[in-house]
Amino acid sequence: MQAWSDEQRHAGRRLALVPTMGALHDGHLRLLEVARGHGDVVVASIFVNPLQFDQRHDFESYPRPVDDDLGRCRAANVDAAYVPTAAAMYPVGFETHVEPGSLAEPMEGAMRAGHFRGVATVVAKLLNAVRPHAALFGQKDYQQLAVIRRMVRDLDMGVEIISVATVREPDGLALSSRNRRLSTEDRAAAIAVPRALEAVRRAYHHGEHDGQRLAAVAEAAIAAEPRARLEYVQVADADTLAPIPVVLGPAVVALAVWFGDVRLIDNMLLRNDPKWSDV
Ligand code: PAJ
Repeated sequence: MQAWSDEQRHAGRRLALVPTMGALHDGHLRLLEVARGHGDVVVASIFVNPLQFDQRHDFESYPRPVDDDLGRCRAANVDAAYVPTAAAMYPVGFETHVEPGSLAEPMEGAMRAGHFRGVATVVAKLLNAVRPHAALFGQKDYQQLAVIRRMVRDLDMGVEIISVATVREPDGLALSSRNRRLSTEDRAAAIAVPRALEAVRRAYHHGEHDGQRLAAVAEAAIAAEPRARLEYVQVADADTLAPIPVVLGPAVVALAVWFGDVRLIDNMLLRNDPKWSDV
C-alpha cells in the first residue's frame, strides 16, 4: 500500500482515503463520492478492526461481503482498495496503541470500553499505510470524527479530515451496516430514532434550550416505541462533547438505542439553522 501511494504522490497526485469496515452502503458510497473532490486518486480501506469491538459476538457477526464490497468500489471508480488481514495489521508482538483523551470518555466511550483506543489505533495505522492528503469520515459517528480530528492535530499527522453529512433512508433512519441485522418489525420500529432526534430539534427551535429537558424529549420519544431500548441520550457541546446544562453554542444530541440485539447510534447537530442537522 505504501509503495503504491508513494508512486501516486511522486506523480504529483493528491490522495483521499475513506476508511471503512466494509458491508458498504450508500453512506460509504457518499463518502467515496465526496472524496473525489478532495483527491486525484481515491483509496478505500476495508478492515473489520477487532481492536474496536468490545463484544466478541458483535465482531464475529459483523457482515463481511468482501466480493460485493470490491464490486461497489469498482463501480464507484475507487482507484485502490486496501484490504489488510488482521494478521498483517496486528502481527504477533503488536503492542503500541493510540490513547485518546477526554473526547473518548462520554457517550460511546463510556459504554464501550477501549472502543476509541481501537479506532484511533487503526486509523493511525491506515493513515500511515496510505499517507493520504485527506481522509473522510461520516458525521453519523460524530464522536469518532471528533476523536480522529483531535488525534491528527495532537500527533501532527498532517492529514485534512473531512466530515460528510449523514446519509439517511427516506424514512429518516441513518444508513448503517447494522441495519441489515434488524428484523422486519425492528426495522419498522427503528424510525423512532430519527423521530426522537427530530422531536429534540423541534423542541429546541421552540425555545427549549435546557440540556436535560431536551434529552427528556428524546427519552420520551424512544419510550413510546416498545421495541426500542434506550442506552443513552446526551446533549453535549459540539466541540468538547461535555454534557451541557444549557445550549448556548453549537451542540450535538447523540443517542444509542437497542432493537433486539442490534445497537444503533445516531446524532444531530443543534444550531440555529432549522433544517435537518448536519455539517
Ligand atoms: P464504518 O462503520 O464502516 O464506517 C465507515 C465510515 O462511513 C465512517 O466514517 C462512518 O461515519 C461513515 N458512515 C457510516 N454510515 C454513514 C451514513 N449513514 N452516512 C454518512 N457516513 C456514514 O466507522 C468505521 O467504519 C470504523 O470505525 C473505521 C473508521 C473504519 C475504523 O475502523
